[in-house]
Amino acid sequence: MDVLECIRTRRTIRKFTEQPVEFGKLSKILEAGTLSPSAGNLQNWRFILVTEKPLIRQIYEHCMRQEAVYHAQAVIIVCSMDNKAEMMYGLRGKRLYSVQNCACAAENMLLAAHSLGLGACWIGAFDEDKIDSMFDMTYNQKDVRPQMIIALGYPAEKPRPPKRVDMASVVHFNQYALKAKYPHIVFRDYSVEWQKQAREIEESSEKLVKKFKKGAKKLWKKIEPKIKNFFESNKSKK
Ligand SMILES: Cc1cc2nc3c(=O)[nH]c(=O)nc-3n(C[C@H](O)[C@H](O)[C@H](O)COP(=O)(O)O)c2cc1C
Repeated sequence: MDVLECIRTRRTIRKFTEQPVEFGKLSKILEAGTLSPSAGNLQNWRFILVTEKPLIRQIYEHCMRQEAVYHAQAVIIVCSMDNKAEMMYGLRGKRLYSVQNCACAAENMLLAAHSLGLGACWIGAFDEDKIDSMFDMTYNQKDVRPQMIIALGYPAEKPRPPKRVDMASVVHFNQYALKAKYPHIVFRDYSVEWQKQAREIEESSEKLVKKFKKGAKKLWKKIEPKIKNFFESNKSKK
């Protein structure tokens, strides 16, 4: 799958089938994590792969019982070694680069999962202390911090793409104060704009069909007794 296609079609998946994920695929996903960029090539991430159901259920309890974790066939806990980043880059390394490095690895893994036909969900809401002690993260004084959890499995849902903020409202040209109302004209690339417009047409026609069906149902409910009455009174006249 082409990278841009992979980025465009990836969705957060929160429902998974019972099919286990092959270790070959998990290894490719983890490798994608290790191939991420990191500040000074520090690679101060650690990945805990969890495939045992009782452990996944325990993680689920520490993630506010999120359904994505409940249904997951595998879970990857992405951890940062903050001390390593602090030694190299001080507080900026500890507070910023550590998080950024892990986020890069996590996104790489989400995209790799999608390209392999799997679904994934980035979990940010979890009880850090509980995950920390569950996996004994202070082991050997090599302190690691859980940054995000990735729930994985074969998708059992096909969510619609959530709304994205318009490119025109997030792109600035050369200065923060300068924005273009129609960035596709500046870029001389209409493909993104066309796709956006096609999506908008599809969405609004779907809405229209839904509205029409709802209206027709309501109308039918209203006139159905009258039609029935009409036929029945005609029958009795005969
Ligand atoms: C930092 C971060 C934290 C997130 N935490 C959660 C989470 O705890 N639970 C969840 O279901 N999704 C979580 N998500 C997934 C987002 O809800 C999802 O990416 C967003 O709704 C956009 O949908 P998409 O990924 O399909 O484009 C998180 C995503 C990020 C980047």
